[in-house]
Amino acid sequence: MALTGICLVLFVTFHVLMNAVAIVWPVAYNKVCLFLGANWYALIASAGLGLLVVLHIIYALVLTIQNRKARGNDRYSVSARPKSVEWSSQNMLVLGIVVIAFLGVHLVQFWARMQAQEVLGSLYVHDGVELPAAAGTLFLQVAFEQWYTPVIYIIGFVALWFHLNHGFWSMWQSIGWNNDNWMPRLKCIGSCWVSFVIGLFVLQVAVFTIRANQKYYYNNEALQAQYAEMAEEHFNHATEPIQNELKKIQQEAQALQNSGEMFTNPEKMQALEERFGQLREELQSEYMQFTKNLEKLNNLGNPNAAAAQEAPAAVPAVAQ
Ligand code: HEM
Repeated sequence: MALTGICLVLFVTFHVLMNAVAIVWPVAYNKVCLFLGANWYALIASAGLGLLVVLHIIYALVLTIQNRKARGNDRYSVSARPKSVEWSSQNMLVLGIVVIAFLGVHLVQFWARMQAQEVLGSLYVHDGVELPAAAGTLFLQVAFEQWYTPVIYIIGFVALWFHLNHGFWSMWQSIGWNNDNWMPRLKCIGSCWVSFVIGLFVLQVAVFTIRANQKYYYNNEALQAQYAEMAEEHFNHATEPIQNELKKIQQEAQALQNSGEMFTNPEKMQALEERFGQLREELQSEYMQFTKNLEKLNNLGNPNAAAAQEAPAAVPAVAQ
């Protein structure tokens, strides 16, 4: 229980520090999101994290049932429980449920729209616009422009503060470090750590909410250039099979030409040409959709803007 708890506290600490990058350097934050996207190491880490949460909940339930059976409500063999710990101690289950409810909303707002979409090879569609999966700042925009997001997050953070504070105390108590000298110091270290982490989360919610209401994450020029780059990468990746087949057909046609077979076997050449034409049309239609989507993406922060936008990239050479 203590081990899974410590790992989760370390994750939350890492998470709040990663979010801090979004405040000081949003472009770098998106690079971190890209690094932690659907790569094998990030997927293993996410699966490990999910397992930790499940183990933590299972252990919590098993230990609670065992302790209650053994000692009723007197749950620690030696208990130097200060008054302030009483409340959270008695409400750990409710606090845990509030934290899980917050986590549910949070994962729907971020994980399901980012990493999960990448794994599925699709993109989350907001207001009819496909958002690049690794553009974390766009998802901050979409989440924090909703009035209810800061409300839900603050409720979640309050519950998390009590939950973690008691978690630290309970851990020291369980491993027997509850002597009069060390307990107050350890409690103080735990409280400071938890308060720093939660305080930083609260600050982040304030900054993200203000910026989202100013449409900062839509309209910032450096971010827009980064979104275009990410969308183009997705387009190239998604159309890779078509582009590869086009290249292969070009090579085959070249070989037919070199061997003179194009004269002896004109049907084969014609079949290649037809297939090439089909694929080129397909690629061009994909490209039109991509440019239209990018135009809409650039206008998300300003729906009244004139539709005209510069085309960001050339049609892939192979399709010209
Ligand atoms: C200001 C508050 C927060 C913001 C802006 C935020 C933002 C994010 C973002 C952008 C992701 C990335 C999703 C992805 O790349 O797939 C994420 C994932 C996640 N967040 Fe948060 N987060 C916040 C607070 C929290 C808190 C307090 C917790 C825990 C109690 C938490 C737990 C998680 C978990 C478990 C994941 C999934 C990690 C994974 O994919 O492996 N987040 N969050």
